[in-house]
Amino acid sequence: MQFEIQPSGGMVDAEARSASLAAPGFGRVFTDHMVSVRWTEGDGWHDARLEPYAPLVLDPASAVLHYSQSVFEGLKAYRQPDGGVALFRPERNAQRLADSCRRLALPEFPAEAFVEACELLVRTDAAWVPDGAGASLYLRPLILADEIGLMVRPSASVRFLLIASPAGSYFSGPLRPISLWLTDEFVRAVPGGTGAAKCGGNYAASLVAQREAMDHGCDQVVFVDGVEHRWVDELAGSNIFFVLDDGTLVTPELSGAILPGVTRDSVLTMARDSGRKVEERLIGIDEWRDGAATGRIAEVFACGTAAVVTPIGTLKWRGGEVTAGDGTPGPVTTAVRNALIDLQYGRAEDPYGWRRSVS
Ligand SMILES: Cc1ncc(COP(=O)(O)O)c(C=O)c1O
Repeated sequence: MQFEIQPSGGMVDAEARSASLAAPGFGRVFTDHMVSVRWTEGDGWHDARLEPYAPLVLDPASAVLHYSQSVFEGLKAYRQPDGGVALFRPERNAQRLADSCRRLALPEFPAEAFVEACELLVRTDAAWVPDGAGASLYLRPLILADEIGLMVRPSASVRFLLIASPAGSYFSGPLRPISLWLTDEFVRAVPGGTGAAKCGGNYAASLVAQREAMDHGCDQVVFVDGVEHRWVDELAGSNIFFVLDDGTLVTPELSGAILPGVTRDSVLTMARDSGRKVEERLIGIDEWRDGAATGRIAEVFACGTAAVVTPIGTLKWRGGEVTAGDGTPGPVTTAVRNALIDLQYGRAEDPYGWRRSVS
């Protein structure tokens, strides 16, 4: 894809950028540029450009504003020891975006163009890649339906956008086990629904449960399956792993209702290759409650691009709670986390070719 380059005239000055990079938070500040590509039924993908970051002009009757026909992705670029920058497995996000597009009746965005767009934006705004511990440049690609009209049908006009935001850690403060609220009222996904697609509606539907979690003093909500209400699915924004007392890693199998995380796949691959036993299977909420109480489940952790690998301590539900481990990050969780971030930040060999250096 040929991108027309329209450099930003009014870039954020170096001092303001340094201030933003010193404490970036998550998703609060954005870089100088963005990528935009249009699609129409007749012409396919066209009008690809790198342009100054700016608000959109959308007709109030645009399809996305009413029927939520949109999908997105999330991936990161990491500062490397030699001062360069590398993306982590961007082709997996390209593939998942295409899968999400198919589910939402959107045109697939070509994988090579996706990776090219990420490289172009990171290269152009490389000064925005922070270099503090745990910091990175978070990339947010999205596709939205911008056909004007209120008919409920796949949009004949679509836009791909890519923006970037310097990011610190998603969970603030030193690494500590987070607490989860088990919602018994709300489900995130059902077979045949959109749980395996990365679409905004899934997140909108999770917010009331997330608020419930916070009302009960918990950091995050955890969802069980939408049919039997007994199998662990995932968190609103990350996958989940259990560490058994013999070191085995267990994670819910890809049922079609959970998001196939790139981090989940990376953790599974690295664990398998290091000789650890891994199981992708159904794991019941009873197994979690009983296992945490008896010590059979020694550790629990969440994983995702934003969450990285975050220990989980207490699980609370209406009428009870149980804590896995001793309230500190467990040794397996810590080892898995370190192996992953060492690979992402270029401190370890990359036998898989997962780092894609952007220069
Ligand atoms: C619902 C959900 N599950 C899992 C994940 C983890 O996916 P990944 O590791 O690709 O970031 C995310 C984050 O993107 C998510 O939003």
